[in-house]
Amino acid sequence: MARRWVVGNWKMVRAQPTVPEWLQSAAQQPTRAGVDVSVAVPAPYVFLAQQLLQGSSLAWGAQDVSWDEEGAHTGEVSATMLAESGCSIVLVGHSERRLRFGETDAQVTAKASRARAAGIRPIVCVGELAAERRAGKAESVVGAQIEALLVGLHGDLSGISIAYEPIWAIGTGVAAAPEEAAAMHGFIRHQLGGSATSTPLLYGGSVSAENAAQLMSLPDIDGVLVGGGSLRTESFFAICDAAARCVGV
Ligand code: 13P
Repeated sequence: MARRWVVGNWKMVRAQPTVPEWLQSAAQQPTRAGVDVSVAVPAPYVFLAQQLLQGSSLAWGAQDVSWDEEGAHTGEVSATMLAESGCSIVLVGHSERRLRFGETDAQVTAKASRARAAGIRPIVCVGELAAERRAGKAESVVGAQIEALLVGLHGDLSGISIAYEPIWAIGTGVAAAPEEAAAMHGFIRHQLGGSATSTPLLYGGSVSAENAAQLMSLPDIDGVLVGGGSLRTESFFAICDAAARCVGV
């Protein structure tokens, strides 16, 4: 796949030095040919992102979405509401939500489906724990997450991206080794079968300006999902520059 995708995930952390300054500086960024850049901000900042990023080279989105369409679901945000706020992406099934809030594969699939129906690209996150990898179960764990998505969406992954985020690499400063990342991406691509060429596969977990180009030049890695490295514009846009160098590679 020729294009590259860079998605920032601020999690529940404020961008630096301040959120408005990050967004204002991002709005000045040039378009990078062949690179889709977006940022998933905490829900209260979606409206600000819409105001400050409209018409810029950056898209914006949220970090979660309800699987319900509408109704008495206190605390939830619907896909339609996100679409009305100009969101074009949403993270779904991040490991921090699967682990801390017990999100199941069925719920993750329902959220992805709801987002897609509202015209928002869900980025479905999958990944294994360190103990699962040590036990030789990395492929079976990730394979089961992908299989649940494929079954739940009747094999149609159009409009969906997948992010492989090994949980042991998140926030540690140590990304997966290139051969580990490439092997898992190849495994996922193979499992996707018919959808293989059109589904963007992103890697996440300690992506930095230093390792981004190497990761994105590996086979089957179409882009990156960036946590800590997205909080400052300098590092985030250095990663976007790396992505631009990998377009067509
Ligand atoms: P870090 O880039 O901080 O390791 O976070 C990765 C992540 O979880 C992005 O969704």
